[in-house]
Amino acid sequence: MSENVNNIQWFPGHMAKTRRTIKENLRNVDIVAEICDARIPVSSRNPEIMGLVGDKPHIILLSKSDMADETATKQWISALSGGNKTALVIDCKSGRGLNRFAPAVREILSEKLLRLKNKGMQGRPVRAMVVGIPNVGKSTFINKLSKNSKAKVENRPGVTRNNQWFTVDKELELLDTPGVLWPKFEDKEVGEKLAITGAIKDTILDTEDLACRLIARLILNDNYKAMLKDRYKLEDIFSLPPYDILKCIALSRSMLLRGGDPDTERAANALLEEFRSVKIGRITLELP
Ligand code: G4P
Repeated sequence: MSENVNNIQWFPGHMAKTRRTIKENLRNVDIVAEICDARIPVSSRNPEIMGLVGDKPHIILLSKSDMADETATKQWISALSGGNKTALVIDCKSGRGLNRFAPAVREILSEKLLRLKNKGMQGRPVRAMVVGIPNVGKSTFINKLSKNSKAKVENRPGVTRNNQWFTVDKELELLDTPGVLWPKFEDKEVGEKLAITGAIKDTILDTEDLACRLIARLILNDNYKAMLKDRYKLEDIFSLPPYDILKCIALSRSMLLRGGDPDTERAANALLEEFRSVKIGRITLELP
């Protein structure tokens, strides 16, 4: 699915189609599990999703928590939980947190499950629709939980052939997002953060510009500033403009052009790659 983001073509029609298919499929599920990236829990959510889900039970999963700042993730969990909302932290790569998903779903649906039981309708699996913008980890989540086992779907009303149902166990089935749920590209900040995290690979921003924007964000936070300082063995140069900080990173890594000037393009690539592979540290770019 991550291939899709390489050829992004934004047409309102795409979103309209996804909106329609999600709505059609809502009647086949008990709950919506929305996955977002714990490093950018605002920018990695489709702004229309809340409206689409309506009053269907909804659980939010903060994925890639292994890459995010733990303190920030805790703040996000409290901000996104409470009342009739539930949020869980997951790390689909190692599988950490995934075992809490099914119990949390059953807890959210406990009243409905009890009603079904009282009507003697116990036994059918709970069905969850997994939604999220490209690259948040939907396929990894589904594959890890279901071990790739496809569910049989023949007699389900409104189910199209493209639907992807997976069996977790006899009590839980997952439906992969029907259609592609686009992020909010029109917002420049959102695009910037998606590009920084690598969710969007082709971007209108050039690498140096993107790296400078990342630096500008990191130096706002003392912890992240210290991580930059450590990683690139920098002096206290953080009052300089981001481009000059990038030059210092290039110099510190001996990344030089032929005439001896700092190779800021190479430094920008290194910085972005090292941010995305968590070599700088666990960083969250959006706080509640
Ligand atoms: P999608 O279906 O929502 O588009 O996302 P997908 O599962 O394809 O995941 C996108 C990328 O994010 C994958 O990396 C995947 O391994 C990684 N990923 C998903 N969940 C987590 C997580 O909780 N932690 C970490 N660290 N990474 C996660 P990729 O580079 O595209 O592929 P690969 O390196 O795994 O082969």
